[in-house]
Amino acid sequence: MPLFDVYPLYSVTPVSGKDIFVYDDKEIEYLDLYGGHAVISIGHAHPNYVKAITNQVEKLGFYSNAIQNPLQLELANKLEALSGCKGYELFLCNSGAEANENALKLASFKTGKSRVVAFKNGFHGRTSAAVAATDNPNIIAPINAQQAVTILPLNDVEAVKKELEKGDVCAVIVEFIQGVGGLDQATAKFFEQVDQLCKVNNTFFIADEVQSGYGRSGKFFAFQYYNVAPDIISIAKGMGNGFPIGGVLIHPSIEAKHGMLGTTFGGNHLACAAGLAVLNTIEEDKLLENVHTISEYFISKAKTIPQIKNIKGRGLMIGLEFDFEVGELRKKLIYENHIFTGGASNKKLIRILPPLTIKKQHVDQFFEALKKAL
Ligand SMILES: Cc1ncc(COP(=O)(O)O)c(C=O)c1O
Repeated sequence: MPLFDVYPLYSVTPVSGKDIFVYDDKEIEYLDLYGGHAVISIGHAHPNYVKAITNQVEKLGFYSNAIQNPLQLELANKLEALSGCKGYELFLCNSGAEANENALKLASFKTGKSRVVAFKNGFHGRTSAAVAATDNPNIIAPINAQQAVTILPLNDVEAVKKELEKGDVCAVIVEFIQGVGGLDQATAKFFEQVDQLCKVNNTFFIADEVQSGYGRSGKFFAFQYYNVAPDIISIAKGMGNGFPIGGVLIHPSIEAKHGMLGTTFGGNHLACAAGLAVLNTIEEDKLLENVHTISEYFISKAKTIPQIKNIKGRGLMIGLEFDFEVGELRKKLIYENHIFTGGASNKKLIRILPPLTIKKQHVDQFFEALKKAL
């Protein structure tokens, strides 16, 4: 049976990985500055991670959400401690889109309203409400277009105020650092005013931390650079280091009701073991400190390359903007220099999303290769 051909593919076949590197079927080593789309947080095949998953699957890989699963609570407590999101409650699911879908659904249940405000160039996933809140008409099918969504420009606080005061908006959803859109960030003033506007208009403020969360920005969550208190925080990518797991952190003012949300696979034993190994490693290996050190080093090196016109993002979620489209440059980096990088909907931008374990020598390796490729 052929595969449904929805992905344009590079002709590389990785078969193994170790920390910041992946190895293909010809044993060629690739420096992974893409992290499989910001997913690899603690490095490929981290020994803690391999051990935790192996031990768990030997005992019990899965059972449904109809029984007691203490691993879920252990994960929730560790997440509360490391993220500093005191008092928030956790609902576990399997992916970023699903996290946002549940966040939007919860906002609608609780406010009794149904319109969503989202932002230009935002990306929130490919399921029903999540894709409708995504600013890309090419991936919105007619069935999704039925959702009531208003897309506004970032930094236009008056436009947000006008929409929220109409009284029918259940949620404002935002990426504090845009991922797919190209690493743009609104101003602190905008984020803080939108947070306040949500609070006075009975609208939930949803922080989509699917890509920017789990330390990638240098803080546990990117919203923590601002004076805001989201009602719901959605998480996924870095949470499982490749094991499919997602979740929503829910403010304690939002009361749960049996049956309100649910999933078969979400929060299963194996996913929790993977998620716990990630959190323990972020703590033990002091990865947030590493993100700051390497980010600073990376940006100082990027500033010395004249062809780089603009440096965007934070932490290890960095955009390098050129004054030409970077498709060919990224191909050269992969095929000639064996370095994976990410693209964005801004065609002039290379996205750098490495494992959070990256060291200075890997940054040096990248810049040597980039100079050659330019
Ligand atoms: C900010 C953001 N939200 C949501 C998603 C969707 O996540 P998933 O692909 O796991 O459904 C993505 C994926 O790239 C993302 O970057």
